[in-house]
Amino acid sequence: MGNNLSNKLKKSTPSPSINMQEDPDFRFINGRRYHNFESIKYPLPNDDDEVDRLHQQHFLLRYVWQRNFASPIKHVLNQKGTKVLDVGCGAGSWIFEMASNYPNTQFTGVDISPIQPTEIKPRNVDFVKANLLNGLPFEDNTFDYIFQRFLFLAIPKDSWPVIINELTRVLKPGGYLELVEINPTPFQTGPVTDQLFSAGDLRQRGLDPEIVYKLRSYFEKQENLENVIEEKNKLPYGPETGKLGQAAAENTRLGFSHAKPFLQKDLNISSEEYDNRLDIVVKELREFGTYHDICCVYARKTQFSY
Ligand SMILES: C[S@@+](CC[C@H](N)C(=O)[O-])C[C@H]1O[C@@H](n2cnc3c(N)ncnc32)[C@H](O)[C@@H]1O
Repeated sequence: MGNNLSNKLKKSTPSPSINMQEDPDFRFINGRRYHNFESIKYPLPNDDDEVDRLHQQHFLLRYVWQRNFASPIKHVLNQKGTKVLDVGCGAGSWIFEMASNYPNTQFTGVDISPIQPTEIKPRNVDFVKANLLNGLPFEDNTFDYIFQRFLFLAIPKDSWPVIINELTRVLKPGGYLELVEINPTPFQTGPVTDQLFSAGDLRQRGLDPEIVYKLRSYFEKQENLENVIEEKNKLPYGPETGKLGQAAAENTRLGFSHAKPFLQKDLNISSEEYDNRLDIVVKELREFGTYHDICCVYARKTQFSY
């Protein structure tokens, strides 16, 4: 997966500096590859290391929920002609699994980063490069089911209701909208964990770290959504969770290592000190039984809307 992109990356990765000329799809900062939308603040890179982290995160979440989705749509997914949209699809981990489980359904993934394979992919999968914050490039009432997971670093605090309206617009009447989010601020934390997780203040960046607790009310306020269901869960790190906690801690280590360019600046510490603290955090996450709240909210679009 992504071999063409890896080759392109190897050829065009410059020495530490910003380079926006080489490829209009990407920009390169200190040897890492990022999306190339100037106005978008989403801080994580999109290179092979981040793709690997996203795949790992997908498997963690599937294990935690013991499923890939919650909406009551299995029968619809088995019907020919069903259309599904995955918003902020990232590496496409969710979409590839879903597409292989439901071959009659056509899946579309949207993301600002065109990191998904363009040729070697299932026939029932398409990817579109688009900025969700500018509206989705689809007609009203297009999709039977829309899934969106972990966009808390992407959607400004005040834009969530607008985005939920936009997702509802492209959903067919009777279709389901499902959002999964996490509280990035963990509970039962050690002292170094506290420091690292409070770096890069999301509120100051105009984001909403507590969106996970607000989704339900935003859904309920959207007049074309009904039967709103909220399911709560935890992403745990503690030793009692065995390999799950270990894998979650490793995924968090990777996330912090990929966010290092902006977090290190915020903490005003050396690169070495950042790495030392990250090692301590990974230990603390296990020792203190740290966990994150995660939440899945889904609802049906009313039959008589738009
Ligand atoms: C944390 S990743 C989640 C990926 C995927 N949903 C998953 O759960 O595996 C967030 C994704 O949102 C994408 N993204 C960020 N801002 C976006 C925007 N304005 N429009 C579309 N996609 C965006 C990023 O490129 C990234 O792939």
